[in-house]
Amino acid sequence: MKFDRFAKLIAGLSLAFALPWIFLVMVPFITGSNLEALPYPEGQDIDGGVTAYPDKALYQYGSSDYGRQVYAAEGCAYCHTQVIRPTYAGADMWRKGWGGREEDGFARETQARDYLQEEIAPLGYQRIGPDLSNVGHRITDRDLMHRHLFDPTSIDRDSGMPAFLHLYDEAPDGSKLVPNKKAEALVDYLLSLKKDQPLPSKG
Ligand code: HEC
Repeated sequence: MKFDRFAKLIAGLSLAFALPWIFLVMVPFITGSNLEALPYPEGQDIDGGVTAYPDKALYQYGSSDYGRQVYAAEGCAYCHTQVIRPTYAGADMWRKGWGGREEDGFARETQARDYLQEEIAPLGYQRIGPDLSNVGHRITDRDLMHRHLFDPTSIDRDSGMPAFLHLYDEAPDGSKLVPNKKAEALVDYLLSLKKDQPLPSKG
């Protein structure tokens, strides 16, 4: 009798852990792990001769792969996410410029396929600063992007972002800061950040 109740407890506990694990880990893993690029249907006209979604070439920018590593090493993901949540889960789509190209009436939530080209997706887990999924649309000027890294408070007086001065060297005469290789690659990467490639239309 006693054992019976103990077995029930164990069975109940196992179920309580197994069910969320199946639905929150296993199902998304299985449905998301074998995704492939989707071709655009005939008639859907996409800029730049792109034939499938996602296509990295569309947004490739200089040394952005090395920049991705710098982004990871510098810990940018501690303060910045790269995922535009669906509207049922948050207000991301109401924030100006977060969803991508607003001028063509085109902006969207992030889809699982958007990460297909990335070996490790820097999703981030908290937002001290804004989401950077589409920062390549919001900041298009190279010098401004650099200034954001070495002197954030010159752009936003109350910025909580630290200055990444170790990515810059002083010019021999001390007059200005010169970006090192890491800073250039990081800026390439940031300028390339656009997660708004048009989705293939259905039917
Ligand atoms: C301690 C938290 C923190 C860290 C670490 C951090 N940032 Fe930020 N970042 C912020 C905050 C807060 C803002 C918003 C205020 C501002 O614009 O400066 C911001 C803004 C930005 C912006 C401007 C976004 C926009 O939409 O205008 C960019 C680009 C950026 N960060 C890139 C980076 C990169 C790249 C790194 C890593 C090298 C990094 N940040 C590390 C907090 C952080």
